[in-house]
Amino acid sequence: MQVTSQAQPNIALVKYWGKRDADRNLPATGSLSVTLDTLWTRMTVEFDGGDGDRLYVNGQSAPSLLSRVSRCLDTVAGRGRSGACIESECNFPIAAGLASSASSFAALVQAGSRASGQSLDPLALARLAGQASGSAARSLYGGFVELRAGDDEIDVASIAAPDEWPLSVTVAVTERAAKPVSSGAAMSVSRECVTVFSTWVERQPADLDKAREAVRTRDFAALAAIAEHNCLKMHSVMWASRPPIVYWNSATVACLETVRALQRDGIPVFFTIDAGPQVKAVSLPESADAVADALRGTAGVIDVLQSSLGTGARLVDPD
Ligand code: DP6
Repeated sequence: MQVTSQAQPNIALVKYWGKRDADRNLPATGSLSVTLDTLWTRMTVEFDGGDGDRLYVNGQSAPSLLSRVSRCLDTVAGRGRSGACIESECNFPIAAGLASSASSFAALVQAGSRASGQSLDPLALARLAGQASGSAARSLYGGFVELRAGDDEIDVASIAAPDEWPLSVTVAVTERAAKPVSSGAAMSVSRECVTVFSTWVERQPADLDKAREAVRTRDFAALAAIAEHNCLKMHSVMWASRPPIVYWNSATVACLETVRALQRDGIPVFFTIDAGPQVKAVSLPESADAVADALRGTAGVIDVLQSSLGTGARLVDPD
């Protein structure tokens, strides 16, 4: 049986940075994100009994990404499973700090589990996706999503649906090439900078409380303040690491200045940046076009993508 699932990337407003248990890919802290809707990854999986797994990304064979995908399918369908043909289609740049691993693994576990005859609930799928990529667990859910890091396993739930607080996310693409250091590798370097890292972990529950309360009360200014603070704190952890991890380029900084100028003009908008040089600006929908125009006019910005908030991963009917 050939099964296709579509998932959207998510953008963390309170970040996951660091692992409690690297072997099981358990995050050191909780996180809170928004799921997008116009950017997507579609994964088609068929256990066709072929000789080993074959992976195609946007129509091209992708052997370098295969081992991680195969390992994920092993956790979903068991190591004794037959070979699979996996086709991935993605409508945005991959491995460049736009959360392509989140949408890819969320779609992969959903398509893979159904193709192997299982019918798992979103939390079971989120736990499987999280083993492959921590942030992928959140893309099983839509709207505002909170991931709680338990001692043994994660819990994930949507805390507000997309239409309960419709926000817009505008992505300024400042680089198309894949990032030089994967987030997983960068996290393990950050962990060695013990004092800075332990402070980061210790303060994360308080940041999550503030963000959750801002979502509950639909308080944009409060969400903006905690999201920008948490983002800059995560990058401070990276910058303080040895060797330092700096994902930003000059256009990243120029975009932050653009967002500050918009804020001075009274536009409700805030920025966040993940493990890459792209800047994501979150705003109220009525300001999204003004935000996009300003980012488009910022030096070094290659492209601007606009999205509202979307649903979690879903199975797609064959054409
Ligand atoms: C900066 O989920 O890519 O985007 O679990 O090692 O695959 P792995 O890491 P990944 O890390 C995401 C880091 C982040 C913050 C976030 O999405 O919460």
